[in-house]
Amino acid sequence: MTELRLRPGRKHRVLHGHPWVFSNQLVEVPSIEPGAEVTVRAHDCSFVGRGYGHPNTLISARLLTRDEDQPVDEAFVRGAVARSFGRRSWIDRTSWRAVHGEADGLPGLVIDRFDDLAVLAANTAGMERLRPWIEAAVRDDLGIAHGLWKCDGRGRQLEGLPETVDVGWGEPAAVAAIDDDGVQVGFEVMGGQKTGLFLDMWENRRRMVRALAGPRTLDLYSYVGQWGLHMAAAGAGEVVCVDRSAGAIAQVRANAERNGWSDRVTGTEASVDEFLRTVPDASFDGVVCDPPSFIRSRKQSSQGMKAYRTLFAHALRKVRPGGHAVLASCSHHLWEDRFADVVKEAGKWAKRRLTVVMKGGQSPCHPVPLAVPEARYLKCWLVRVDTLGT
Ligand SMILES: C[S@@+](CC[C@H](N)C(=O)[O-])C[C@H]1O[C@@H](n2cnc3c(N)ncnc32)[C@H](O)[C@@H]1O
Repeated sequence: MTELRLRPGRKHRVLHGHPWVFSNQLVEVPSIEPGAEVTVRAHDCSFVGRGYGHPNTLISARLLTRDEDQPVDEAFVRGAVARSFGRRSWIDRTSWRAVHGEADGLPGLVIDRFDDLAVLAANTAGMERLRPWIEAAVRDDLGIAHGLWKCDGRGRQLEGLPETVDVGWGEPAAVAAIDDDGVQVGFEVMGGQKTGLFLDMWENRRRMVRALAGPRTLDLYSYVGQWGLHMAAAGAGEVVCVDRSAGAIAQVRANAERNGWSDRVTGTEASVDEFLRTVPDASFDGVVCDPPSFIRSRKQSSQGMKAYRTLFAHALRKVRPGGHAVLASCSHHLWEDRFADVVKEAGKWAKRRLTVVMKGGQSPCHPVPLAVPEARYLKCWLVRVDTLGT
C-alpha cells in the first residue's frame, strides 16, 4: 500500500483530528490510482491514519481510520455506515441525513434517508471505489428497500469522475413523498436538486415557523415549498412560494394539493429579484429567504457578501412592521460573524430595526466535528422587523 509522509512540523491539521491531507503538506505527492488506499505517516514515520488518496487534487488524502491495525475492508466500511445510521436513532422523524461525510468518518460520502428510500452520493474517487460495500451495508445490513446513487455533485469533476445517476437497488419512485413533521412533501427523486430534498432545515422550521405564520407569508427560494407548507400548517392565511425552477414550482403545487391547501399555498415560477420588484413594501407578515450559495470560493467572499446584503435588504422591506423574517445562508465561506455583519447592514439598507429572535444552523443530522469547523455551513436567523421609529 502507498505510504504518504508529511513534511516536518506539528501544525498539520490532520495531526489534530482533521481528516484531510493537502498536497503541499506532503514530502512527495504520490502517483497512485485516484481513490487508492493510502497510509499517512508523520515526518518521523509514526502512523497518522489510513484512508484513500488522489494524485491530482489539492486534497491528496482523506482518512477513514486512525487505528493502525484496522484494514479498510468490507467489514470496516459496512460497520462504519451502520454506525452512522445508528447515531441518528434518536431523531424523531423518518427522513434524515444518515451519513454526513467527514462528520461521520466517511469523507466524500453523503446518504440521505427518506423513509424506505436511500439517496447516496459518492463525491470522491475513494468513495466511488467503496460503493459495493456501502450499498451492501444500506441494502442488506440496514434493510432500506430502495436505493438511488445520485452522483452528480460539482466536486466529482475535480476528482475526474463523470456525473452519474443510477438505481442501486429496489424501485425508487419517480416522485417520492415523505411525512415531514406532519406535512406531506413530495419531490422528484432523480430530477430534483442535490439528493432530492433539503434535510438541513427541519430543526429550524420546527423552532421558527410559528413566528412567521400570519395572514400573508412569503417563501423565497422555496424549492418544493417546505417552509411555505410548514407556514400553512402553522396557520398562515396565504403562502406564496417563489422559485425559478419550473420543476420545483410544479412540486409546490402538487404538495399544496397533497395537503389540501391549494387555496392557501401558491407557487410562482420567477427569479426572486424580479418578483420582489413587483411586490409592495410591508405586504407580508412572515418572509423566508433561503437562497443558494452566493460564495462558492473564498475569492468570491466580498462580492457574495454584497449580494446577500442587497437581497436581504429587499426581502426585509417586504415585511410589515412587527412581522418576522428568516434569513439564511448555506455558504461554507461565510462565517457566522460575517453573516451577522451582513444581516446588520441589510437592516440599515432597508431602514428597518432588526431584533434577533432565534439563531439556527443545520439540523442535527448534519453534525460538525470540532476539528472541521468548515463543516458548519448553514446560518439561519429569525429576526423581528420594525420600522426605525418604533
Ligand atoms: C437552498 S435552495 C432552497 C431550499 C428550500 N428553501 C428548502 O428549504 O427546501 C435554493 C433554491 O433557490 C432556487 N433559485 C436559485 N436562484 C434563484 C433565483 N435567482 N430566483 C429564484 N429561485 C432561485 C433554486 O432553484 C433552489 O430551489
